[in-house]
Amino acid sequence: MKEFWNERYAHKDFAYGKDPNDFLVSQKVGSNLKVLCLAEGEGRNGVYLAKLGNEVTCMDYSESGLEKASQLALESSVTLSCICADLGEVQLEFGQWDLIVAIFAHFPKPIKTHIWPQIYGALKPGGKLIMEVYDQEQLRFGTGGPQHADLLYSFGELEALLQGNFKALHIEKVFREVIEGSYHNGASATLQVVAIK
Ligand SMILES: C[S@@+](CC[C@H](N)C(=O)[O-])C[C@H]1O[C@@H](n2cnc3c(N)ncnc32)[C@H](O)[C@@H]1O
Repeated sequence: MKEFWNERYAHKDFAYGKDPNDFLVSQKVGSNLKVLCLAEGEGRNGVYLAKLGNEVTCMDYSESGLEKASQLALESSVTLSCICADLGEVQLEFGQWDLIVAIFAHFPKPIKTHIWPQIYGALKPGGKLIMEVYDQEQLRFGTGGPQHADLLYSFGELEALLQGNFKALHIEKVFREVIEGSYHNGASATLQVVAIK
């Protein structure tokens, strides 16, 4: 799978564009936050958050994705820390982040069950998770995202994976148009999450 992503990001164009995800923008993130962007690929969301005045770390296992993220940061005159790591193996440090962002972060079940239960612990008290992923119903739209149901999510699955005593956990299934680069292109079914520790 890592080879798949390195190949996708090998092109000059940005696979999901250079603009941030609409749902993330709608959340009106502030400044001076310590932010972790998981599965951040070419860095479009990380660069947006850094431009707002945040200290941003992008984590992904694709070297070519993170090279493009560094390139986008440079051309946008912001700084990003990039960590090349497999989310199926990484252990997130406890109580580190004001904000964790995960946009279209799709993995097989063993990786989902490794990474998502760590979110609560990795956030500082009062810290926030902002996440948008494709719902399993996305398969009938064919406008982007994984073509296998196990890589997609259901409401109940996400609720079970995001373990912890969140003060607020809001998960919403949404039908909306997602237009992002060459690979996300039309009417879609997504799950949008905002959780506060
Ligand atoms: C659809 S892309 C989303 C990229 C970015 N979040 C965005 O919105 O533009 C999914 C990303 O997940 C990353 N990814 C998939 N499996 C991973 C794993 N096991 N560890 C780290 N990154 C992974 C891929 O390299 C890819 O960059």
